[in-house]
Amino acid sequence: MTPVVSVRFRWWALIAMATATTNCSSGSAEREEGIPVVVPTAAAPAPTTPADADCAPAIEAPSTTLAEAFAPHFKIGAAVSTAAFGGADPSAAILVQQQFNQLSAENVLKWSGVHPQRDVYQFTDTDRYVEFGEQTGMQIHGHVLVWHQQVPDWVFEQDGGGTIEADALWQRLEEHITMVAGRYGGRIKYWDVVNEAFNDDGSLRDTPWRRILGDDYLAEVFALADRLLPDSRLVYNDYSMFLPGKRDAAIRLVKDLRERGIRIDAVGLQGHYNLKRPYPEEVESTLQLFAEAQIPVLITELDLDVLPSERDVQGADLDDTQAASAALNPYPVCLPPEADAAIAAHWGLLFDIFVKYADGIESITFWGVSDRYSWLNDWPVRGRRNYALLFDRELKPKSSLLQVLQSASATTESVAGE
Ligand code: GLA
Repeated sequence: MTPVVSVRFRWWALIAMATATTNCSSGSAEREEGIPVVVPTAAAPAPTTPADADCAPAIEAPSTTLAEAFAPHFKIGAAVSTAAFGGADPSAAILVQQQFNQLSAENVLKWSGVHPQRDVYQFTDTDRYVEFGEQTGMQIHGHVLVWHQQVPDWVFEQDGGGTIEADALWQRLEEHITMVAGRYGGRIKYWDVVNEAFNDDGSLRDTPWRRILGDDYLAEVFALADRLLPDSRLVYNDYSMFLPGKRDAAIRLVKDLRERGIRIDAVGLQGHYNLKRPYPEEVESTLQLFAEAQIPVLITELDLDVLPSERDVQGADLDDTQAASAALNPYPVCLPPEADAAIAAHWGLLFDIFVKYADGIESITFWGVSDRYSWLNDWPVRGRRNYALLFDRELKPKSSLLQVLQSASATTESVAGE
């Protein structure tokens, strides 16, 4: 079994070497922030594992990687921070390179990252991101062109003050897409052209983009992106797409644009899931509907929040601050075996469904690489210890990874319409 041994040796040995030579900070100071922007307060002391802590045991390194296991089905990716692709965290870079074949950028391609001021474009990080993707042979995803968050106020303000007119905003958007996305051409294979434009009930979200450009702006933005980005696949991306109102709005959008001859290539279903929602059957029925409509999907921004919400702990004595924070942060040291097994089983259910609908799924991208830097450690409650991804804080594989790898051999059904 030489190949198996050599793969195992390769990726674990490299990560161990890199970890040994990296002086990683707690992550809180350097971490790029998600939305809403969370700035962690004083770094929490690293929890130590008491000798008698009831922790799920470490697992053996699997003999295959995510990219290899899912190669027959879809690309499998991770969103990376500057630490991972810029050299500050070489162990994370190695893990990404070994496990994934698709890359997304957590923050650097957002308007606030790359175009913070009217006449200032910052391409240092975006160039490094694209070069990292190319050097490691990844398919590169661009996130994001039109979104109502992490976009500086100046974008919507005219030079002398006051709200900008539609024509001038179109000019700014055209310049931004030309400068940012056009700079990389087809090297960035997918672009999230618009992110989160619908409310949960399917109505159009009230954003500055919509208010200034008008209710038909989605069609016009996609037409503009088609003209400027002929070599990239154009994506509409949103969260909670298992909710019928929002899901139907996205399907209607694609059908409408197709009828009008405007290109939109795929829909990104953000996978910011938790253990309660979406129910597996909601994931399945959503994928079924997109398959029937013959709309390719990407599962984007996938992670699994395993901690209770504030609503979940309402029964706890909230006047007792200590009890309340303990209830909100139930695994401050490690995951106990039962919780670990339940979480792994949930991942398995999700990936069995993804594989079943693989014909319609172009890629699956995790929102982060390991639990160490997941935004869910600080959102919606700061300073908790979440376990949202497949690799732990030391970048070691979790039992959830094994469960996901097992799903790779599940059966794909032909579910496309007709
Ligand atoms: C949204 C955005 C992402 C990211 C996450 C939270 O889903 O699309 O860019 O900000 O929120 O981290």
